[in-house]
Amino acid sequence: MIKDCFLLAIESSCDDTSAAVLHNNKVLANVVAGQDIHKQYGGVVPELASREHTQNIVPVVDAALQKAGVDKSQITAVACTQGPGLIGSLLVGATFAKGLALSFDIPFITVHHMQAHVLAHFIEEPKPEFPFLCLTVSGGHTQIVLVEDYLKMKILGETLDDAAGEAFDKSAKIFGLPYPGGPLIDKHAQQGNPLAFDFAEPDIPELNFSFSGFKTSVLYTVQRAQKNNPDFIQQNLNDLCASVQHKIIKILLDKLVSASEKFNIKEIAIAGGVSANSGLRNAILMQGEKRNWNTYIPRFEYCTDNAAMIGITAYYKYLQSDFAALTDVPMARMDF
Ligand code: KG4
Ligand code: ZN
Repeated sequence: MIKDCFLLAIESSCDDTSAAVLHNNKVLANVVAGQDIHKQYGGVVPELASREHTQNIVPVVDAALQKAGVDKSQITAVACTQGPGLIGSLLVGATFAKGLALSFDIPFITVHHMQAHVLAHFIEEPKPEFPFLCLTVSGGHTQIVLVEDYLKMKILGETLDDAAGEAFDKSAKIFGLPYPGGPLIDKHAQQGNPLAFDFAEPDIPELNFSFSGFKTSVLYTVQRAQKNNPDFIQQNLNDLCASVQHKIIKILLDKLVSASEKFNIKEIAIAGGVSANSGLRNAILMQGEKRNWNTYIPRFEYCTDNAAMIGITAYYKYLQSDFAALTDVPMARMDF
């Protein structure tokens, strides 16, 4: 029997404070507050992120409840991201959620951030059918996941060093673009030639990834060219971005095709912040047509970090009464 519920979900694993309100599996509100403070440092400063979360959390939760038209006394369960992520950031969301659970005497649910990225596909139609493969690409992770059921997932391959998002962000940094560079590379790439520069491609066995050699090759290409031409970056920015994006997508897609063939699965999804990349979205659609895949791409706001995905995951845990104890703690690193 389905238990009717109003869920409040909180996501605070990195530099976005987000709260969502769900009525069962329907998202009524999903509010995200970003943190501009990190731009001037070229990356997320963990201590500053924690402080911003403490300032944002109450107004963000208030805004989500208001937008949903739900009073806090109606909330039946409260969920938060347990990990992986920045420990100080996670602590803010988890402590807030525990406080609410305790004061309203309602269940507390903890959610794995990477599982939540995958389950973002169940917020809206069309929803993938089990089993499906999900390429989860974010700022901290790059994984090919075999999803057998809502809460039954297996990592088939992952990065041995940098994540795809880091490859975007670090390349952007080399080009002098501000953090986070992924969306800016995406923007410049639209006016550039993807074959202008040929950056190194890793040779990694099985379904694993590596981006450290690629990143070094971007750095050396730029440094070498700048010796003869100090304006090299300005003069070639669009082509550099297009070539970086093209190669990262190729590295990702080659492995995804191998996984699809190896497991004979044609239900293919992408998730995580990098799945907001327009080149990757197009490439998945094109591969889908070529290979007869059913492809699933979340709406932009459900690709990058958001509490709606935490809420939908918590909903499936709620159905199984899979509740956490108030003594459970956030974890910077966490297995599936
Ligand atoms: O999933 P996410 O929001 O946070 C983490 O859990 O890490 O992913 C953030 C990553 C960043 O590396 C950011 O540059 C990248 O997603 N990203 C993009 C785009 N939008 C966000 N990368 C390439 N193109 C984009 N349009
Ligand atoms: Zn994420």
